[in-house]
Formats: sequence, C-alpha cells, structure tokens
Amino acid sequence: MKKILPRKNIRTLKPYEPGKPIEELQRELKISVKDIIKLASNENPIGPSPKAIEAIRRKLKKLNRYPDGGCFYLKKKLGKKLGLDSENIVMGNGSDEIIDIITKVFLDESHEVIVSEPAFLEYKIITKTRGAKVVTVPVKKEAVSPSISVFKYDTDKILAAIGKNTKIIFLGNPDNPTGAYLGKKELSRFLKKCPKDVIIVLDEAYRGLVASSDYADTVTCTKRRNVVILRTFSKAYGLAGLRIGYALANKQLASWMEKARQPFNVNMLAQVAALAALDDSSHMVKVKSLIEKGRKFLIKKLKELGFDVVETPANFILFSFKGISSTEIFSGLLLQGIIVRDMKPYGLNGLVRVTVGTMRENRKFIEALRKLECSKLFPN
Ligand SMILES: Cc1ncc(COP(=O)(O)O)c(C=O)c1O
Repeated sequence: MKKILPRKNIRTLKPYEPGKPIEELQRELKISVKDIIKLASNENPIGPSPKAIEAIRRKLKKLNRYPDGGCFYLKKKLGKKLGLDSENIVMGNGSDEIIDIITKVFLDESHEVIVSEPAFLEYKIITKTRGAKVVTVPVKKEAVSPSISVFKYDTDKILAAIGKNTKIIFLGNPDNPTGAYLGKKELSRFLKKCPKDVIIVLDEAYRGLVASSDYADTVTCTKRRNVVILRTFSKAYGLAGLRIGYALANKQLASWMEKARQPFNVNMLAQVAALAALDDSSHMVKVKSLIEKGRKFLIKKLKELGFDVVETPANFILFSFKGISSTEIFSGLLLQGIIVRDMKPYGLNGLVRVTVGTMRENRKFIEALRKLECSKLFPN
C-alpha cells in the first residue's frame, strides 16, 4: 500500500520551536504564575493601549459576525497616517502571515531566497515550505568597545549572492535575533544596487521601538516596484496575541498579494484594537520611553556583572559570559522563574537573548543573573 507522505521539503523542515507557556513552567517549577517573568519573545511588557482594550470589549457581542475582510477602516486610517492609499496596504494575521503570502505569490521551486545567517527563523521556514532554495549570508560581529558589540549585515556579500534565480531577499530591519539593521545611507545604497527584478522584503517589526535618528523612514520606498515593507501591531502596539500586521508596497505588488490571502485573515477584535491603538500616541510614547530606559539599564548592569553584550536598536539584547554556556544561563534563570532565549539553536553559541521588560522585571532579571553568576563562579 502506498504511504501518505508530505512533500519532500516539508519532510525535511525543522519547525519553529515556540517558548514554553508560562503555565507549563509554573507546573514544572511549582511556582505561581505571577512570579514568572517572561523575557523571551520580544513582547511589549506593558500591553496594549487601554483604548484598544476598550474597543475589544465593545466588540465582543458582535463575534457571531465575520470580520470586514477588506479591513476597510484600518487601511484608510493607516493610509492617511502614512500618506499612502489603501491599495498600497495588505493586512495580515501578523506579519508572519504576510511572509507566507509573499512566498505564496512569488516563489516556485526554481527560485532562490537570500536571508542572513542567523535571521528571523520564519524567512527560512516559510521559504522551504514553498520548495525554494534558501541562500544564506552570515552577519558580521563588530566590536563597539571591549565588552559591547553589534551584528552588521554584510550587504556586499548579499549583493554578491544574487543570482539569476534569486527572487526575494528578506532583511529584518532590525532583525531578530541579531539586531542587524541598515541605517539611512546603507539602506539607500543597498536598494540602489539591488536588481529591480528581485523583491526586497524590509521587515520592520520593531519600528516604533527603534530610537536611532539614523533609522530610515521607508514609506517612500513603496514607490519602487520591488520593495515590500512589513510592519506589525505585535511589538510597539502590544497586540501580539491578536495577530495583526501589514505590508506596504506599490499597488501592483499589493494587488497580487491581496489575491492570494484568505478572505477573512484579520479577525474582528484585531481590527478594532489596531484602529484604537493608532489613536493613542501617548501610550506609544510611554512604551518607547520604558523600553529605552530598560535597555540602557540592562546594558549597564550586564556590563557591571562582567557579561559581554551585543546591543540591538530594538527591545532585546544578547549577552554571554566566558565560562558559562548559554544553556547553563538559560536553565539557571529558568529555575528562578525567568524565561529568556538560548541562542544556541540559532548558531549563536554562548549567547542568550533577553527582552527588555518593565523596570521591576529588569531588576529581578539582573538579580537572578547575579545569583547565577555567583553560584557558577564560586560553587560551594
Ligand atoms: C523580525 C521579526 N519579524 C516578524 C515577526 C513576526 O511578527 P508578527 O507577530 O507580526 O507575526 C517577528 C516576531 O518576533 C520578528 O522578530
């Protein structure tokens, strides 16, 4: 009898490994949920705007209805805010879904996709589900000072990797987990040098949290025929649990993507929450300043404790300690109820990623790390 098998590229696919749910950790460690601090998924630590929560509450009784499949009001509002037309915008069930739609629209098995190594895992995973080939270009690590470094894109190598079958280049700007990003001039140079028949996906999931004045306003890039910008309500807007993100692109690209999406891909609660969140600029200011303060605090304290730090412009930091493996750091913190991410599966040996939390969470994290460091360096 013939066996049922998935396509070959699915058989060999390594799935995305989600972090442990807080409740599971509580069960394993026998501690109460409120004592667990999750700094593992680059989420906004204070949640969405109260206006978004109120909008969701008002909509709950309408859940028997389908959502607006065209996200009419949301596209109008975003368009007005960004100086674009609704036809330049494609809404998705998180920007993850937009990555899925882009690959569905443009890739077949003869194509190649360039991603940096390491990069946001979904670029590779989704590309592979389409049967296309992933071409990787390593990021470079550059020292800023003896204990601080940053990851940088190797744009020359990315450009050199473009071949006749290259269809898409994914570029997190900034990327996760490396924090690599292109400033204004680097981005402009890169886009000019890219062939016009290669689609550049600029993933700006962390826009809204990036404080650098060198961070480009990319809306005008949608005039180019080969650029797709990804944005999300998951990070700065704190709506990760509702799943809503979007693409900005020229009308031709956007119309092809519109054709390929599910008819009701963005749920009703996500739409009203996003609409309300866009109106609450003071909440955004609060989130941004909390992240900025927390990032500075964590970098200072990690340095004081003797850790090596990889800075990013977003709401996460990477760190390592000579003599203590990332897995030991991860599990040592886990035992104290703090969830971070071991970067070993990304090939970043020794590094751990921590998301900036509330100041209370940041202090608890540093305290737990101090205890862990002492117990490793001076075991009884
Ligand atoms: C670089 C990057 N892009 C995209 C996403 C996915 O965002 P969303 O929640 O909109 O699917 C993430 C989430 O962590 C991310 O880090």
